[in-house]
Amino acid sequence: KLSLKVPNNELIINPKEIPSEWEKYAEAVQKIPKNIDLPMIIDGKKVYSTKKVKNLNPSNGEAIGTYQQADFSHAQQAIEAALKAKAHWAALSPSTRIQKFRDLETILLKWKYELCATSSVECGYNSFETYVEWAELLDFVRFNNYFYAELLAEQMGDGWGETNHLQLRPLKGFTCAVTPFNFPQAIGYNLPLVMALTGNTVVWKPSDDSVMSGYLLMLALDEAGFPPGVINMITGDGKPCLPTVLTHPELTAVNFTGSFATAKAFGNYLYNSEYPRKNFPRYVAETGGKDFLVADKDVDIIDTARCITQGAFGRSGQKCSANSVAIIDEHIWPDLREALIKETNSLNICNAVDKKCDVGPVINERQFDKISSFIERAKNDKNCKVIVGGNCDKKNGFYVSPTIIEVFTEKHELLSEEIFGPVIAIKTYKKFEDIVPIIELHNYRLTGSVISRNETFLEKAVPVLSQYAGNFYINRKTTGAIVNMQPFGGDGASGTNGKAGGKWYLLNFVSQGSITRRH
Ligand code: SER
Repeated sequence: KLSLKVPNNELIINPKEIPSEWEKYAEAVQKIPKNIDLPMIIDGKKVYSTKKVKNLNPSNGEAIGTYQQADFSHAQQAIEAALKAKAHWAALSPSTRIQKFRDLETILLKWKYELCATSSVECGYNSFETYVEWAELLDFVRFNNYFYAELLAEQMGDGWGETNHLQLRPLKGFTCAVTPFNFPQAIGYNLPLVMALTGNTVVWKPSDDSVMSGYLLMLALDEAGFPPGVINMITGDGKPCLPTVLTHPELTAVNFTGSFATAKAFGNYLYNSEYPRKNFPRYVAETGGKDFLVADKDVDIIDTARCITQGAFGRSGQKCSANSVAIIDEHIWPDLREALIKETNSLNICNAVDKKCDVGPVINERQFDKISSFIERAKNDKNCKVIVGGNCDKKNGFYVSPTIIEVFTEKHELLSEEIFGPVIAIKTYKKFEDIVPIIELHNYRLTGSVISRNETFLEKAVPVLSQYAGNFYINRKTTGAIVNMQPFGGDGASGTNGKAGGKWYLLNFVSQGSITRRH
């Protein structure tokens, strides 16, 4: 019997504050293998490609090894392995699968330092950020088990001389998960794992920026005794391999987190009648955000400044929930501006594994160039002003300093485009009615927040503003949703709002059946 109601908060500690934790984390960083050629894992076996790609450490721009570029033939092998593994895996009782996931949880608990160190070195997240993510990963694994058991126990009504039973069947065929670099383990692992828990077999492509994290999950599955072929990992750029997966007639679900543009491109494959289908594929897509924070005139200035800097600059702003526009009552702006400059200037920007790191690098050169081009345009634009930060340096790693830009016009790219870096736009407002048009400059509907000590203001603001966010917060930052407390996702351009971390998320990956007996 699983009985979990409160998430894993007790696991979230800050290794920078606990010497023994720091020692173990730092030791794991040192032990990360150098020059490893990371294989794909298909049908439980290591598979190599003739085409290799360098795996870079974004903190110093140096190669930490290589990974494989999959082509259509690797995708085909992965599909065949998933289909082959399906009959056995789907026929296991849910409780047998749940037990496997408990075994996996034990391994993930044991591998804490290796997982956190890998995420720091490969993706540039500081030690505390990796600890928080690791706790979230464990929450996902535990809670998905708990949610699955709860859904399976659901009772149907009986009557008219009939009894009814609900079945949660695995989907037919095989499924696919494509995951991002920005939470390589919490989101990266959760997407294929939740599909496997419910009896599906999976072709998984982790981001090409987090292949080492991906490989660690494959090792953990093996260690936990998962049968080969339940999850098959292919790696590299999606273009040479994913079309084979997305157009396959046996595909029954895609679980994707990434950009809006990629989500749309996948949709074109999935719902194009050109491709023969045996099933209608389910599609769960969690995409971007242009997440807003509204600050009323009655706020604690320091607390508001912290909500903004933590929401905007954590993980170098590489969260779909990152606060990227702050809409501020003009009365508090002069004071808040000073507080924001002070808070931002106190952040240390350096190599993620450095104990003093608050803000690490951004993930790669492509993202660096994209983010720095927003900043360069802003510097030359009289319609806005960089008030703090604005330094971009890719000589030795991909560093963008936390940047705050005040925008003076009603419309501006900084108010409407997702940047996915440590950059936040500020727009002041005179009256409440000015706020919604700023939010409506884009179609993202992921997270939002409002800060005020004035209950009358909140009574007016919350019903209006909360409609623009799948996850809306009052008097706190826009980031940091917790499993089973704030199931995560939004609609509009932010995706299909599947709500990972909630019980009903699992229903995306099962086919419900009813069995009725007449007595
Ligand atoms: N779930 C994360 C957050 O809420 C984003 O993916 O910050």
